[in-house]
Amino acid sequence: MKTIRDLDITGKRVLIRVDFNVPMDETGTITDDLRIRTVLPTIEYGLDQGAKIILCSHMGRPKGQRVEKYSLGPVAHYLAGILEKPVRLAPDCVGPEAESAVGSMNNGDVVLLENLRFHAEEQANDPEFAKQLAALADVYINNAFAVSHRAHASVVGVPKYCGAKGAGFLLQKEMEYFHRSIDDPFRPLVAIVGGAKVSSKLGALDNMLDKVDCMLIGGAMANTFLKSQGYGVGVSKVEDELLDSARKLLTDAAEKGVKVYLPVDVIAADRFAPDAVSKQVTIQDIPENWMALDVGPATVICFSEVLADARTIIWNGPMGAFEMDAFSRGTMALAHTVAASHALSITGGGDSNAAVKQSGESENISYMSTGGGAFLMLMEGKELPGVVALEE
Ligand code: 3PG
Repeated sequence: MKTIRDLDITGKRVLIRVDFNVPMDETGTITDDLRIRTVLPTIEYGLDQGAKIILCSHMGRPKGQRVEKYSLGPVAHYLAGILEKPVRLAPDCVGPEAESAVGSMNNGDVVLLENLRFHAEEQANDPEFAKQLAALADVYINNAFAVSHRAHASVVGVPKYCGAKGAGFLLQKEMEYFHRSIDDPFRPLVAIVGGAKVSSKLGALDNMLDKVDCMLIGGAMANTFLKSQGYGVGVSKVEDELLDSARKLLTDAAEKGVKVYLPVDVIAADRFAPDAVSKQVTIQDIPENWMALDVGPATVICFSEVLADARTIIWNGPMGAFEMDAFSRGTMALAHTVAASHALSITGGGDSNAAVKQSGESENISYMSTGGGAFLMLMEGKELPGVVALEE
């Protein structure tokens, strides 16, 4: 895969697909700028080379309509602040307004095109739309790891119609870290998998069995595994239709020599609320009308002992409902353990990254991936369409 460094971009119009799909509060304030900060090296490199930098991104899911709350305006403003130079927001990503914004650029200018998903053609991977985008540029760079699992026009269509194409530094770094942690890891390799649903992670769990030495399972998805082993989990969230899959996964793991650790205790609550009545119980003692909302302290000790020997840790999904203080301790404790470890540690997924941020340990994790769905797709052992498109 070529990177931006392999291409002659001086004086050229360089269209960089980024993922500026960042969380914003109701006032339009960006609450997590990881996806903006991580693309800066590529933008700055382009500017140093005297290129015209045209950025394009989606934001949210506006379903092909112009929806003001999904405008990239606040991002343009934020980016201008950290780049310390003007970033012009083109009112549209294709058509006369985009063409005129790009047409008036000088070398070293930065233009951000308005939300690609204001056009239904983006998600439909419409060839005419891709051609229109491609016509704005001489060179196409994919620096949007987090959306590279989507076969959308700006991800897989545009590279077909741009003569010169390559990866930006963020995409390159994400792929390198993933390769180091999964395909060529220092062992033992321990995966921590959590979050709400087994269904969204079944493919990843299956594939990871061929890669990891140990797997720690927490979060609401652990309930399905516990129930599959005959434990009563009260009214905890469970995917009953996946009990057989959970059981099979545990049998497969045993056959493959992968040690899977499930919670041995949980914080159970009488309802899903920050002020719920809660108590620590062993997994044998979850009261009938209560639900497990976090892993308990004995589980944290057990998981931490496994992590103490790890030389590579890959983490996707929180251990409990960490957004509520009363149920955040398990996830926070694990974040501290992972951060203190000497292992190469990689986290991926919006919730895991938010949890790490909440723990104050962001600086102590080897690599926080910007990807959610893209990260999971790699964990499933699949190729990312956006990466394949650069190689074709
Ligand atoms: C993400 O946040 O995972 C990416 O920006 C992709 O967004 P999407 O799930 O709306 O395609």
